[in-house]
Amino acid sequence: MSDQLNHIANAIVAPGKGILAADESVGTMGKRLASVNAESTESNRRDYRELLFRTGVMRDHISGVILYDETIRQSSDDGTSIVDIIKNMGAIPGIKVDTGAKDFALHPGEKVTEGLDGLRERLAEYYELGARFAKWRAVITIGENMPSTACISTNTHALARYAALCQEQGLVPIVEPEVMMNGEHDIETCFKVTKWALTELYSCLAQQRVALEGTILKPNMILSGSQCDHQAGIEEVAEKTVDCLKQTVPEAVPGICFLSGGQSDLDATAHLNAMNQIADLPWRLSYSYGRALQAAPLKVWGGNNDNRSAAQAAFAHRARMNGLATDGRWSPELEKEAAE
Ligand code: 13P
Repeated sequence: MSDQLNHIANAIVAPGKGILAADESVGTMGKRLASVNAESTESNRRDYRELLFRTGVMRDHISGVILYDETIRQSSDDGTSIVDIIKNMGAIPGIKVDTGAKDFALHPGEKVTEGLDGLRERLAEYYELGARFAKWRAVITIGENMPSTACISTNTHALARYAALCQEQGLVPIVEPEVMMNGEHDIETCFKVTKWALTELYSCLAQQRVALEGTILKPNMILSGSQCDHQAGIEEVAEKTVDCLKQTVPEAVPGICFLSGGQSDLDATAHLNAMNQIADLPWRLSYSYGRALQAAPLKVWGGNNDNRSAAQAAFAHRARMNGLATDGRWSPELEKEAAE
């Protein structure tokens, strides 16, 4: 079993490839669609996602797709299931299994991610539906007296219990402790909080007997808070992120796929590229981007299927640029040339 999990984890971080996070809940997807004046109907949500999954670039630069419960059960108008469309492109279907970040009792401003009850049975069903990896996202907010010790310990404990259940059911757990970039804090604060969260996370994973070889980490990058007066540059972000990960993430972890978290498309690509230009990394560094892969195609599509090919071209471009960044081969010049 653990060989199989390791095989899947390695496939997810194959050179030039990363994850497309398309697991927005119906509520979040509704907001994304509203932002381009498209209606959030079940068929619109499917049409938009299907156009991404049928883009040729999937074969070269998307190793896995994280789906939401609604999508993993959908089929195209021609009868092909969404899961088969993804598999036919050579990518691995994955599934978001947490049930959301809820208000954390007695901790105003903080969140706790729920979804452990009944998780074993849900994972077994998702496996039957074709999923081979899963995702669970914990939310850690930086602010006055935040994060609390309870927020870190409760969320990392839940992540570790989720990861153990995934491995028991044959799915690779993507463990995602997201330290949010919102706030006035500086980059050092992001470093300290992320280091704290990751240290706790790997202690909990060990306690729950999770085999690290069959996991993927999905962390935030070490960034200045989005409302901080001083914004750290690309090189500083890359160096501090790699430094923080080296201090906390065991070498047994095959790969680390970052979330984009609200960074611009170009920053998300440039940061990943700069990290991959640093020598002697013990794990592969890649992407598991939602917004940074989808913002451009979503805007071009705008709810109109006549714009499908233009939207696919926009998606292909971002996926190619991020694919180059997994090997440190991206440059702003390539970005411009390829966009023309
Ligand atoms: P973003 O890249 O938009 O942060 O989304 C990734 C994700 O799946 C968050 O859980």
